[in-house]
Amino acid sequence: MTQTTLRWVSCVCLWMAVLLPLNSNANERPPVQAQSGNAFLSASMLAMQNDPMANPISLWLDKGKALWTGTESKSSCAQCHGPVENNKTLANQFPKWSSKLKKLINLEDQIVQCAERTSQARKNLEDPDVLALSALLHQQSKNQTILLRPNTQHKEEWQKQLNAGAELFIQRMGRMNLACTHCHDQNIGKRMQADLISPGHPTGFPIFKMSWQSMGSIDRRIRACYSGVQADIPQPGSQELRQLELFLKMRAEGLAMDGPSLRR
Ligand code: HEC
Ligand code: HEC
Repeated sequence: MTQTTLRWVSCVCLWMAVLLPLNSNANERPPVQAQSGNAFLSASMLAMQNDPMANPISLWLDKGKALWTGTESKSSCAQCHGPVENNKTLANQFPKWSSKLKKLINLEDQIVQCAERTSQARKNLEDPDVLALSALLHQQSKNQTILLRPNTQHKEEWQKQLNAGAELFIQRMGRMNLACTHCHDQNIGKRMQADLISPGHPTGFPIFKMSWQSMGSIDRRIRACYSGVQADIPQPGSQELRQLELFLKMRAEGLAMDGPSLRR
């Protein structure tokens, strides 16, 4: 085992030791390291999130549903995948190693791939249609736990990607010379400008971020964190972003998916 894997494994063991005893008492709030981004929302944002009439995500879900069933186009997602309600465990299993593309892909990458199988026009990653379909599939996976299965034929490759993500998470970067871990492990609950720093769990994506006035994927959010520390920002879709996503999801394994969420 490499040092990174060891470090990572021992981190998971500590994690389990903290989580298990507390979770057995239903009256206890989860320990702060296990809280999703929703636990850090203001009361007014939470109220908006819980009110479908006020929550802008409702419109994105409607749009996703129309694209899925294909009222707008001849060939649709449903033709191959059936009713969307039958697809509850897709979004919680990404990113995956694609043996076809020989790289790690996330749900939005898969949607872009599949959109080419329909009569919809070619899409890029942050296309509103891709985000709407991503929101729809994440909504189906709400309350499912994150479940990543390394494909048995590509276990080694998968592990390599995970180790790379773990390495990136602790690598200092940018003019602020900070790593992800400095904020999302060591400063949880502290205020940074108008935000409270959360553990950075990947359970609430895609997000509708008020300051973007749009949905955005986890890819865009992580790029925003690079920008926050004034580091060179990776290209959308780059492997380092997928490796970080894989690491974040392994780090959050066992947590439930929140479905698409509102952010400030
Ligand atoms: C200087 C502090 C800082 C650093 C370093 C940083 N982030 Fe963030 N990050 C934030 C803040 C602030 C937010 C918005 C509030 C929140 O959700 O934590 C955020 C949000 C996030 C979220 C969204 C969580 C949610 O539920 O909406 C993810 C995921 C994330 N960061 C991942 C990363 C990754 C991966 C790195 C390293 C590449 C990183 N961050 C580096 C400060 C930081
Ligand atoms: C012509 C058939 C076809 C159509 C239409 C299609 N897909 Fe797919 N989809 C596939 C196949 C085949 C796979 C298996 C992986 C691959 O080859 O990309 C797949 C895989 C997927 C997966 C991952 C499933 C898993 O278990 O890993 C998702 C998510 C997905 N498609 C979403 C969509 C969406 C969203 C649309 C509509 C934009 C769509 N698909 C349209 C054939 C299709």
